[in-house]
Amino acid sequence: METFWIRSGRDKLSPMNIVLGITGGIAAYKAPDLVRRLRERGGEVQIVMTASAEEFVTGTALQAVSGRPIRSNLWDKEAEAAMSHIELARWADVVLIAPATAEVMARIVSGGAPDLLTTICLATEAPLAVAPAMNHIMWSNPATQANRKVLEERGIHILGPGIGSQACGETGAGRMLEPDTIAAAVFDLAVGKGEGLLTGRKVVITAGPTREPIDPVRYITNRSSGKMGYAMARAAAAQGAEVVLISGPVNLPEPPGIEVRNVLSAQDMYEATHTCVGEADIFIAAAAVADYRPAEWREQKIKKNEESMSIDLVRCPDVLASVAALAAGPFTVGFAAETEKVDDYARSKLENKSLNMIIANRVGSDCGFDTDDNSVNVIWTDGEQRFPEARKSELARDLVELIARHFYAARGTDPQPRLTVISNIE
Ligand code: PMT
Repeated sequence: METFWIRSGRDKLSPMNIVLGITGGIAAYKAPDLVRRLRERGGEVQIVMTASAEEFVTGTALQAVSGRPIRSNLWDKEAEAAMSHIELARWADVVLIAPATAEVMARIVSGGAPDLLTTICLATEAPLAVAPAMNHIMWSNPATQANRKVLEERGIHILGPGIGSQACGETGAGRMLEPDTIAAAVFDLAVGKGEGLLTGRKVVITAGPTREPIDPVRYITNRSSGKMGYAMARAAAAQGAEVVLISGPVNLPEPPGIEVRNVLSAQDMYEATHTCVGEADIFIAAAAVADYRPAEWREQKIKKNEESMSIDLVRCPDVLASVAALAAGPFTVGFAAETEKVDDYARSKLENKSLNMIIANRVGSDCGFDTDDNSVNVIWTDGEQRFPEARKSELARDLVELIARHFYAARGTDPQPRLTVISNIE
């Protein structure tokens, strides 16, 4: 497993200190899993619960998974004597609130500090991230949206929320993001855009699915969640690259410090890519771009008058092949998503599209698409390297390192020395 260490305000390398604030929402039941995900990545987690959070999850469970006594009371003399709220605020490399209720967002906006958690938020200089979780009508309420806007303007990172079915039985935007997604985003905040293998390099990455419209209410798409492409973008940024992420429609938070260009169709992705890929050093195509789109778009909803119907499809532009064909284009890396003969088909794509490398992954109902884990085989003209199943975020770090090494070998130049991010493979 990979453990990240960061250079903190202190003058030595230390593991990442995370103050995890838990507020009173039903999503608090995911908090033990979130703590586990943060600790797996090498985080020291100090939990600070509000009184209402204690209605949803027990301090005993959280103490067991975090390995540290829970803090909840600003007026607890014993705990304050051990580490005061000001010391806690200084200790934190990141303050994360997950789940974050509408109430805590409003408190932070107002600068109120009636309890330990909001006092730490006022007293810390560390990056602050909140993962909202609430009923979708509460989330879309103008008051909550105004608070969200203010928080964003102040540089506070809003992680999510996701869209889907809610504990109240309704569906909409307001679900807390999955613990693994939050943990990955939090580590990016503290590691930041460090000096690394790709400092001074520009990397363009595509991610997610495309949508090919049939009529005003229907489209053709696929099961890509964008997780792999977003993880690649975060890993490239953590290695110091300037990253442009061209994203199809996904339900993921925008990674901090990365320029995201949102697109819908394959044609949109093609155009967005070609506006910026000319200056790129590396292009990585992780998106699941449609191969075919409807030949015509019906202006009105198609009515079900016939027993059967067919839709004529025409080829979409191939974004990856078009970049690889550029004279003096970037170092070009594709992905190959296959259900059978994975390596054979990937090798054909490497050759037919004239790529520098291809990352082959098996896809199916339970692998590749929309999962947190993946296993891949990276293939280039005269070699290959297998990567066993791992979290997409961890895999992406290894893949980006491998790509960077091949990029410099192809260019005959050396990378800048890595300075801030040190990864220990246990
Ligand atoms: O998003 P996730 O849920 O995390 O899932 C990750 C993933 C399975 C989508 C990802 O790991 C992956 O394999 N991405 C490529 C998916 C794909 O479209 O593969 P392909 O074998 O059909 O295409 C080969 C390559 O050509 C890909 O790099 C693709 O981006 C590119 N392509 C394909 C068609 C097209 N019209 N334009 C393209 O650029």
